[in-house]
Amino acid sequence: MAKPQKRYSCQACGAVQTKWQGQCPDCAEWNSLIEDAGAVVTPFSAKHSLQRGGTRIALETLDADTPLPPRTSTGIAEMDRTLGGGIVPGSAILIGGDPGIGKSTLLLQVAGRLATAGHRIVYISGEEAADQVRLRARRLGLGDAPVELASATSVRDILTTLTDGAPPALLVIDSIQTMHSDILEGAPGTVSQVRAAAQELIRFAKQTGTALVLVGHVTKDGSIAGPRVLEHMVDTVLYFEGERSHQYRILRAVKNRFGGTDEIGVFAMETAGLTEVSNPSSLFLTQRERPVAGSVVFPALEGTRPVMVEIQALVVRLASGATPRRAVVGWDSGRLAMILAVLEARCGMSFANAEVYLNIAGGLRVSDPAADVAVAAALVSALTENAVPLDTVALGELSLSGELRPAAHLQLRLKEAHKLGFTRALTPKAARDAVPSGMRGEGFSHLPDLVAHLAGGAAD
Ligand code: TYD
Ligand code: MG
Repeated sequence: MAKPQKRYSCQACGAVQTKWQGQCPDCAEWNSLIEDAGAVVTPFSAKHSLQRGGTRIALETLDADTPLPPRTSTGIAEMDRTLGGGIVPGSAILIGGDPGIGKSTLLLQVAGRLATAGHRIVYISGEEAADQVRLRARRLGLGDAPVELASATSVRDILTTLTDGAPPALLVIDSIQTMHSDILEGAPGTVSQVRAAAQELIRFAKQTGTALVLVGHVTKDGSIAGPRVLEHMVDTVLYFEGERSHQYRILRAVKNRFGGTDEIGVFAMETAGLTEVSNPSSLFLTQRERPVAGSVVFPALEGTRPVMVEIQALVVRLASGATPRRAVVGWDSGRLAMILAVLEARCGMSFANAEVYLNIAGGLRVSDPAADVAVAAALVSALTENAVPLDTVALGELSLSGELRPAAHLQLRLKEAHKLGFTRALTPKAARDAVPSGMRGEGFSHLPDLVAHLAGGAAD
């Protein structure tokens, strides 16, 4: 029987030798070969496997006691709601949004509230001079808030300043595209600069427990690094959206390591800054006094919150020959073409010689498929000039066959509609159980039934 062969493995590179040597022939390390008493391994697997030579890590169970992360309320309920209950110390938050949408205004308001509540807050603007920020704060009624303010762009200067004294509870960097890290070459705003600056700031936040808010610009052309490169580095990504020409703004979480991403905060931009809108439906329903043909209210869902929006359609007959226009604001034009096709094919309605305009009032963008039935009702109402009663909402999805299908969270939407004074609902037949008591539900399984109902003087 052959004598089992001794093996020596190198503690530096793991290579296995059959003879002891003073220097490892593979990695040239001296005195690293030690006799291997374990399982017989082939020289190949020992050299190319990661299964040994590491430090043991402790494996834990999921049910171990872990305290919930503490949260600091910003004093702005719509902001807290979006963040999942407040700001988590030591976390990094990125706020993206078009220029001029109100990011600086929102963050100055948050900074002002927190500073007034006694927290140390530092606001660094890389875009505006301190005077400009001060003037804005005065306009927002925050002139006396003890926010520590600076106009700076060097990450080294900022961090050097902040390592003196107690770390701030909140550090706002407006914006990350203007920050410059001298570790790297390159102009501020380039992808590598943005990444390096953010890395340094996030490291500071984690070490000190300071909550960090980075503002990121979103640009259409690729000349400035957008916040996309940063999204994986931060804990929370918020988007501040809205039409600049309209008042309302929506703060939406698209990533949140400390909460859900289905909550939104609604604000209105006014002369004295952003105000919270706790009842968004009031913003999107225009002043409606009497029923108008082509107008239908749709209970949309924004995050987990139902919001009533008014869908307006206008159909203008043309002298034959001209090419009719289809214009959509706030909805998908492809989806409008589909609804028109279904109305033509399944209900025999003709829009061929008519211009069709569709508008979501208030400047909201709706991408909810449950709007199909409301859009179809608005189009039928506009074409037949039969107004839908003011107390009516309509919702449901529409298939190409003209079938009405229930949509997500019907009950939630209808309950909110009822709370706001709507008493009638046009829904898919299969969804009639979702209509709350006190509300009259009209269920339809096919679009021609709904068209007949609307044409038959639904305004009674
Ligand atoms: P801003 O916060 O500077 O936007 P961002 O930082 O996202 O670029 O806000 C810009 C717009 O907000 C500006 O066009 C004017 C308007 N605004 C108001 O309407 N009311 C106000 O009180 C403030 C401060 C700004
Ligand atoms: Mg700004």
